[in-house]
Amino acid sequence: MHEPESKILAGFARTANPQPPMPGRGGTGFVKDNGEPAHYTEPTMNRRMRSQALQERAERFFPGGVNSPVRAFRAVGGEPPFVERAEGAYLYDADGNRYIDYFGSWGPMILGHAFPPVVESIARAARNSPSFGASTAAEADLAERITACYPAIEKMRFTSSGTESTMSAIRLARAATGRKLIVKFEGCYHGHADGLLVKAGSGVATFGIPGSAGVPEEIAGLTIALPFNDLDAVEAAFAAHRDAIAAVIVEPVVGNAGCIPPHSGPASMPAEFGERISPRGLEAWNAMHGPSDYLEGLRKITRQHGALLIFDEVMTGFRIGLGGVGNSYHPDLVTLGKIVGGGLPVGVFGGKRSVMDLLAPLGPVYQAGTLSGNPLAMAAGLATIRYLQEHEREVYPKIQMLAQAVMTGVAEQARNKAVLCYNGAGSMWTWFFTPGPVRNYAEAAKSDTAAFGRFHRAMLERGVWLPPSQFEAAFLSYAHTEADVQATIAAAREAFEMVAAG
Ligand SMILES: Cc1ncc(COP(=O)(O)O)c(C=O)c1O
Repeated sequence: MHEPESKILAGFARTANPQPPMPGRGGTGFVKDNGEPAHYTEPTMNRRMRSQALQERAERFFPGGVNSPVRAFRAVGGEPPFVERAEGAYLYDADGNRYIDYFGSWGPMILGHAFPPVVESIARAARNSPSFGASTAAEADLAERITACYPAIEKMRFTSSGTESTMSAIRLARAATGRKLIVKFEGCYHGHADGLLVKAGSGVATFGIPGSAGVPEEIAGLTIALPFNDLDAVEAAFAAHRDAIAAVIVEPVVGNAGCIPPHSGPASMPAEFGERISPRGLEAWNAMHGPSDYLEGLRKITRQHGALLIFDEVMTGFRIGLGGVGNSYHPDLVTLGKIVGGGLPVGVFGGKRSVMDLLAPLGPVYQAGTLSGNPLAMAAGLATIRYLQEHEREVYPKIQMLAQAVMTGVAEQARNKAVLCYNGAGSMWTWFFTPGPVRNYAEAAKSDTAAFGRFHRAMLERGVWLPPSQFEAAFLSYAHTEADVQATIAAAREAFEMVAAG
């Protein structure tokens, strides 16, 4: 369909050969005071004995010892560190080790950990009691800020997770259209509601699960999964299921199969998004390169066929820029989460007034939540979004520039040691252990996940904590510094030796 979009750094291919973890090896880390990269030849990290003991205890209570599957590190091997606290760009484990954090609680921590305005806002709200189960002004305060960034959201509702938001958006779309079928894209993850697990990304892709046990065929059969970045497949699905498709749901920049930007015409070079992107996210990028013909195509096809277009921006919302990706494409519904909760559990679904007003108590679509619009979550979200709005021109250029620097700087260390390509958009990116290009899930799935596992373990032992799966995006925060980036590149130099050693 188009030219390769991933940046490729081909060294020599290595066969999959997982290596046991090396507890206790690595470097203290990070940064010399003068900002030079640190060296990692001395094994100075503490062995993770306490983390191991905590994991064993957790396994008595939780399946796999975790409350969300990818935290168990099964895809990369090794023992997950147990976190005691975090500050700025760093996570501290129970054994006294410090890590540069590149997963940011899976996206929300765009301003860094324990960001003082957010912590103070939560503390203030907590003193007034953590929950009332009745309306507060803070809900409309946060909503007002969200609508200012998302013209596509005329009305919204808060939930407590991204999963609830996408699930409710689908219910609304079905009610609005009187149709049953949903189109989603392979490798996109929209939370763990039954109908959305079909060919999903994130943990579902990480563990190679085609869908999920426990989802009845009758429900899975209402979901059509298509390859991302392929408009012909979408046309064909609408031709085959005329007047039966209620909605197309898409991550407009995929994060859950690793980072995969939407196709945007021949001038597109996703690896350079970070360098060129402006605070207004893709809007300005579009002005330079022309809009994404893929996302425009989705808009056109759905409109032609009377289906709703749902942009799931749980990950990209306020990450790619203020307002995320959606504004240029006029989606009917948008889902948000992660950053809008500032680290507390929040989801949002919103869109056209005419559709949202189908919700109870105004309309016949039921949706509810005991803790929806929770005062602590609203306080954390408000402090976060307010800061992003007031410091847009400092925050976004900085994180995009640093993301670009770490993405390309680490990839260069792979030369002659590992086969690697990378995709990035704003401050999210993925190093895929495949020559690429990676334009859809099938291409991402060609990655050498064993090599990724070796890389992940070697980086962790050097004090750099990457998302523990090939099929996840990395993020950085406003708290990260150039020195953190240099330290990460120095760690990668050694880590790729270990990848090459097999
Ligand atoms: C794009 C997208 N949608 C939905 C979800 C589900 O959100 P939650 O984990 O809050 O249920 C996620 C989670 O990673 C996501 O990335």
